[in-house]
Amino acid sequence: MKEKVASSTAYTVLQGLMLTGEKPEYRHLVTAKTLETGKTILEGSHEGRRRLKQLNSRLFRALVPLMEWLILPGISTHYGLRKKYIRDAVENAISQGYTMVVNLGAGFDTLAYELHSQFSEVTFFELDHPATSAHKQSALDGQISDNFHLIKVDFKKTSAKEALVSHEAYDATMPAVFICEGVLMYLPVSDVKALFSGLAELGETTRIVFSSVTSFSDPKNNCGPLLNLYLRIKGEPLSWTFPLKDVASFIKEQGYVLLDVAEAGSLKDRYLPNITPTMLHRGEYLVQAQVSSTCDEVEASCPFE
Ligand SMILES: C[S@@+](CC[C@H](N)C(=O)[O-])C[C@H]1O[C@@H](n2cnc3c(N)ncnc32)[C@H](O)[C@@H]1O
Repeated sequence: MKEKVASSTAYTVLQGLMLTGEKPEYRHLVTAKTLETGKTILEGSHEGRRRLKQLNSRLFRALVPLMEWLILPGISTHYGLRKKYIRDAVENAISQGYTMVVNLGAGFDTLAYELHSQFSEVTFFELDHPATSAHKQSALDGQISDNFHLIKVDFKKTSAKEALVSHEAYDATMPAVFICEGVLMYLPVSDVKALFSGLAELGETTRIVFSSVTSFSDPKNNCGPLLNLYLRIKGEPLSWTFPLKDVASFIKEQGYVLLDVAEAGSLKDRYLPNITPTMLHRGEYLVQAQVSSTCDEVEASCPFE
């Protein structure tokens, strides 16, 4: 992470999502409110305005498939699928009685902002690196209610658990669902394990939905030839990748049970049953897990009530 500038990949995710949300065939994946809030966030900085300008450029749009092929084939469609999956997981948790939603490394994601006015009984937290969090705070200034808190934290210096328990609005007795989207791959494995164990200690009903980059040796992984070089230049190199086939045992070792896993094929079947995208991104999968003290065995659905 570059210390003083907002995360470049946070801009890239939002830009890719907006590109997808504007395509009629993918409109059901991205809400109008997401597009509107995304625009507000981008308009708030020089870099964001540059990204908006690119979105309006025909040349840029024409070059997107080539750029994606070199770095992350199919990634902008994947952002739409990934965010829809996470939205469904969080709304499901809220419908089951979860009253805290915590987004770790939230970047410019708009879900908590969108849901905090819809679910006033739920408290939302976003944790992110100070430079990224500060930009979001100023872009959304005056539009955030008391049940939404942005917390500035560098996970390399302070754990999510420490940052949360010292926050006056965090109540460890309430059931919490955590989101960790597009973040774990930037952390060393020791920090990934500490994150899971720290969150497990926070509550017996803790649930987490996270994305993970599959290992590069996985033959299905279609990451482009320039991915590592691109991320190094952006100052956000990958640290942790993990094979999909081992995720259930990894999660178990961390004290959780697996509730659901979705990779490119299942995301497509679930959310794009009648569409065949030209390219699906196969380098990342999504996982829902819950602290194992509340679920005895691995199963498809495990409501805590
Ligand atoms: C690829 S972006 C993903 C943003 C968002 N979760 C999404 O998917 O739209 C990675 C995010 O992780 C955050 N991040 C990376 N390393 C971090 C660290 N050490 N401490 C706090 N946040 C970090 C970045 O600031 C950035 O917002």
